[in-house]
Amino acid sequence: MYVFKTVKDLQNYVANNKREGKTVGFTPTMGALHEGHMSLLKVSKDNADLSVFSIFVNPTQFNDEEDLKKYPRPIIADIELLEENGCDALFLPSVEEVYPNDPQPLNLDLGALDKVMEGEFRPGHFAGVAQVVKRLLDIVLPDQLFMGQKDFQQFTIIQTMINQLEIPTELVVCPIMRTKSGLAMSSRNVRLSEKGRKEATLLSKTLKAAKTKIDSSTPDKVEKWAMKELSAPGFEPEYFTIVDGHTLQPIKEFSDTDYVVACLAVWLEGVRLIDNEILKS
Ligand code: PAJ
Repeated sequence: MYVFKTVKDLQNYVANNKREGKTVGFTPTMGALHEGHMSLLKVSKDNADLSVFSIFVNPTQFNDEEDLKKYPRPIIADIELLEENGCDALFLPSVEEVYPNDPQPLNLDLGALDKVMEGEFRPGHFAGVAQVVKRLLDIVLPDQLFMGQKDFQQFTIIQTMINQLEIPTELVVCPIMRTKSGLAMSSRNVRLSEKGRKEATLLSKTLKAAKTKIDSSTPDKVEKWAMKELSAPGFEPEYFTIVDGHTLQPIKEFSDTDYVVACLAVWLEGVRLIDNEILKS
């Protein structure tokens, strides 16, 4: 696997491959790679001739200095994992390489998409995500972009950005990878104790149980029930919200839309965990 630290080197490599007619698949990450990320690599390898990953802990999307500082950065293990799984190239830029000038905000109309859920609890987060993904897409110019359903609001916002800016890249959304016990894989899970990791299965259990309730209840009632479930000792839920998967806006009845998603964020052992489940599609 090639590792490129500069924009110029990566661009040369991609351009040479494109000249040979190869298609390019791109997966942006912040590292601390796990099986969830590797599932994106697998889909990329199945779809594109060349699979490019990036690892960049993007400072502009962190609204919490501590979270940025504590973000795990096991770069040697990451490189080994990518190599073992057949990634073709890794872009590993510095902050200066990604933002040679002061980071400029993007002029995007996200409407209400970034006002709810993560957007409400992490102000400025999605502006930072959109900014870095746009910059990375400008550098890599991929045919396909691979992202996980794990971050439901994130991929919805990136799809909106792609549509609005008419970026010629196809977004491919990949399913959530979970441990056997149901915990959604996340780079932040390493910050949980073994006990915490076991307890955290409450998140997926609550989502699964919510799914069984949609024929006999209302979104409001299910949300209230779930918030209570997620208030178990040690847990601090931020939100459990049932939304229209297209607009990310809350719904009044399950029959309001053909695409219903439940999204949640919970604090456990000082770690913020998110998860979601499509209740109807
Ligand atoms: P990161 O959290 O490293 O995630 C990179 C990609 O992996 C995202 O598209 C995310 O949805 C996906 N992913 C994470 N956990 C997953 C799981 N358990 N199953 C399937 N896919 C999973 O998301 C980011 O980084 C950043 O915000 C980024 C898009 C790179 C911009 O900085």
